[in-house]
Amino acid sequence: MNSLIVYYSRTGKNEELAKILQKKLGCEIERIEEYVSRNGVLGFLRSGMQATFKKMSEIKPTKNDPKDYDIIIVVSPIWAGHIPPPVRTYIYKNKEKIGKIAYASVSYSGYGNTRVLKDLEHLASKKVSAHLLLKEKEMASKAHLNAIESFLNNLNKL
Ligand SMILES: Cc1cc2nc3c(=O)[nH]c(=O)nc-3n(C[C@H](O)[C@H](O)[C@H](O)COP(=O)(O)O)c2cc1C
Repeated sequence: MNSLIVYYSRTGKNEELAKILQKKLGCEIERIEEYVSRNGVLGFLRSGMQATFKKMSEIKPTKNDPKDYDIIIVVSPIWAGHIPPPVRTYIYKNKEKIGKIAYASVSYSGYGNTRVLKDLEHLASKKVSAHLLLKEKEMASKAHLNAIESFLNNLNKL
């Protein structure tokens, strides 16, 4: 299956996960980037507020066309139990071009996981074909390795 990993990461955890998946799948990878900074306390607060109110944000042009791929694997943190604005923007902009969609995430506690999956399905107007929901402490230990293998197996079955 021809896969494209599209990821957003503010502090590097989801970038790490995206790159592990990219190595295993040997597929294209693309980072979602914004024009504005989300650094510092104000950046944190603004991010939480915007995510809660399902806001979108302006993102830089992306280079890969999702319609050239069988599946888009979205890798992203969870903010205030919601999808971060730049990820919401990417999916909204590309929903007509996305065939299958899978979702992988590293979040702090997993708070909001279920809502994010539902929201993603609503936003993309399709089922999430496979998902991988990790907590930071699992990424920091070896606990993520089995979960990643099982996610990859699920992708292989599609
Ligand atoms: C504004 C904001 C809100 C967050 N809200 C949640 C949350 O609701 N649930 C959760 O498990 N983690 C939450 N987190 C933690 C991040 O999801 C977590 O730190 C993640 O690993 C960061 O990924 P990154 O390093 O790729 O940016 C939040 C982080 C930020 C910045």
